[in-house]
Amino acid sequence: MSVTVIGLGPMGHAMATAYLDKGYDVTVWNRTARKADDLVARGAHLAPGVEAALKANELVVLSLTGYDAVHAILEQVPQALAGRTVVNLTSDTPANARTAAEWVASHGGTQITGGVQTPPPGIGTPGVSTYYSGPADAIETHRAALEVLTEVDYLGEDPGLAALYYQIGIDMFWTGLVGYLHGQAMARAHGVSARQFREHAVKSLDFGYFVELYAPRIDAGDHSGDMENLAMAAASLEHVVRTAEAAGVDGAIPRAILDTFRRGIAAGHGQDSLTRLTDVLTS
Ligand SMILES: NC(=O)c1ccc[n+]([C@@H]2O[C@H](COP(=O)([O-])OP(=O)(O)OC[C@H]3O[C@@H](n4cnc5c(N)ncnc54)[C@H](OP(=O)(O)O)[C@@H]3O)[C@@H](O)[C@H]2O)c1
Repeated sequence: MSVTVIGLGPMGHAMATAYLDKGYDVTVWNRTARKADDLVARGAHLAPGVEAALKANELVVLSLTGYDAVHAILEQVPQALAGRTVVNLTSDTPANARTAAEWVASHGGTQITGGVQTPPPGIGTPGVSTYYSGPADAIETHRAALEVLTEVDYLGEDPGLAALYYQIGIDMFWTGLVGYLHGQAMARAHGVSARQFREHAVKSLDFGYFVELYAPRIDAGDHSGDMENLAMAAASLEHVVRTAEAAGVDGAIPRAILDTFRRGIAAGHGQDSLTRLTDVLTS
């Protein structure tokens, strides 16, 4: 029932708060110390430095912008990692997660890699999960503490796996979310409010049907255009670009997708399903 949280951006702050809510003895450290003020007022201990933060508890949660920050902090005091389990919930590439796990292990510590699948308000609430990978025994030892934050979605021993799943998910998330915002710029430019369009947006963004249809076809390399094809999609997207630009909305985002469709068509795949893009997008 004790934990150190290093990194008090919105995410780390929510995590420290969740631990305090559950009665944990919480030590925090952040480069900008004032971000700990309200946590200290609630009973958290503000470590005077990174070494003290690492020494305070066996379990250390890291929530930083990227692994450059992880190294900038931990490389100050590598000797303090001995015997520590570092739950690294910092987003970065799978390769960087693997390198960091090896480096932590070389100093006698253990890294659990995590990819959090909720914004900060979801921390400590049911129904949200975090991808984890790394040593299974470390996950089991600390499962109760991890579950204070979110549910545990354990993927396997490879420390890069949680980072990989996270980056795949976030790739789809940012692309989809910007698609929503582009649509709302188009709606507003045509006098339709975001509220008016809200329930239509929810329906348009639900492409679970295509995920189920496409997944086995992608794995099988089956790109049969029995329902849709790249030629039709390109014609459709040209209408989107024209509708956007006629209203003064930047068409660069749909144009970039249109260019991708056209690359597929130029390669002779005009009658293939959009699943063919998994090849077109791979160099
Ligand atoms: N926010 C979300 O919705 C969300 C959702 C899922 C996953 N994540 C991931 O969770 C992690 C934390 O998220 P966040 O929103 O809290 O991010 P953030 O605002 O970028 O958090 C920044 C934290 O990293 C520290 N930091 C950055 N560079 C540093 C350096 N060179 N040396 C020391 N400390 C450094 C900051 O310290 P200072 O306070 O001193 O600047 C702060 O504590 C990120 O990897 C993010 O991608 C975020």
